[in-house]
Amino acid sequence: STDAAKAEALTFEVTRREDVTPSERIAEILVDPGFGKTFTDHMVVATWTADGGWGDAKVKPYGPFQLDPAAAVLHYAQEIFEGMKAYRHADGSIWTFRPEANAARFARSARRLALPVLPEADFIESLRQLVTVDQEWVPAGGAGEKSLYLRPFMFASEAFLGVRPAQQVTYSVIASPAGAYFSGGLKPVTLWISTDYARAGEGGTGAAKCGGNYASSLAGQLEGIEHGCDQAVFLDSSTHTYIEELGGMNLFLVTKDGRIVTPELTGSILEGVTRNSILEIAKEEGLEPEERRIPIEEWKEGAASGEIVEVFACGTAAVVTPVGELRWNGGSVDHRREGHVDRYAEAIRAKLLDIQYGRVEDSRGWLT
Ligand code: COI
Repeated sequence: STDAAKAEALTFEVTRREDVTPSERIAEILVDPGFGKTFTDHMVVATWTADGGWGDAKVKPYGPFQLDPAAAVLHYAQEIFEGMKAYRHADGSIWTFRPEANAARFARSARRLALPVLPEADFIESLRQLVTVDQEWVPAGGAGEKSLYLRPFMFASEAFLGVRPAQQVTYSVIASPAGAYFSGGLKPVTLWISTDYARAGEGGTGAAKCGGNYASSLAGQLEGIEHGCDQAVFLDSSTHTYIEELGGMNLFLVTKDGRIVTPELTGSILEGVTRNSILEIAKEEGLEPEERRIPIEEWKEGAASGEIVEVFACGTAAVVTPVGELRWNGGSVDHRREGHVDRYAEAIRAKLLDIQYGRVEDSRGWLT
């Protein structure tokens, strides 16, 4: 079974790069890192084989994989990933946010994609190893909200063209200093309702964090961009009626009477760690959380009538991003009125960042 827990925890053999990036160059990069453009000096790699289980765990100099052209991932997309961040607190210490939630989701994604499960402790240890070696790359947080984005991933590296779960799999973690995901900063994003394309279907891989879901979102996103929007919002694939998510982010609506509503987890929506954290935090803002199916018409009508007062998207990379106008083929609506402030998005965003950067007590034990 791919689920068989290893008796022993992985041990990581560390080989440091001889020509590490000079401190002055790292400091330069950390001034304005953008998102996903620059990578640290090292990476984690471990291998799984059907015969031997997990092994050969290493922290080694960052560099290309040598991949056989027949590697199954290149043909059948047997791949999963995670996204998380390492935050530097004012005292210099470095923390991750709810890594056990990412580890658990990584295991769920692995099962859905017929990949081997990496034990939670090994997943967390792999992050600890990489962040320790590349700790200089973790920016000081401060007002700039910078962090070191961690990207664990796993893919079918066996060279075999038959369609079956790969018998050799590679796990890796890379790290990339990150500023704001959207170059516009906290500027509200405009969304396009994708009606021609769905992101995921019933019984499909929508709840798994696999590369294929993101590939499947791109045509809809491109259509949105062609209509002057920043992102696309996807609807359920069978009735094209209910809001699902943006492809890389979950969505929240805030109503006039203080409810904060997000699409319920139907199996085709990613179970966002930020989404889940917001459902908890929102109560402290006096909002009543609600998870249910939300017809897209409810958004259109609520934005027009004033029933919906705020909309925002959330994710690890984007944290909390206000949404402004909603557009579709033949129309548009905007819930913002003169003097609009994204009060809840800003308060929830600040609260999350305060926890992540250690500016308030971590009363829920979310930091590691
Ligand atoms: C994240 O928020 O970490 C994501 O994985 C979304 C995107 C960058 C793919």
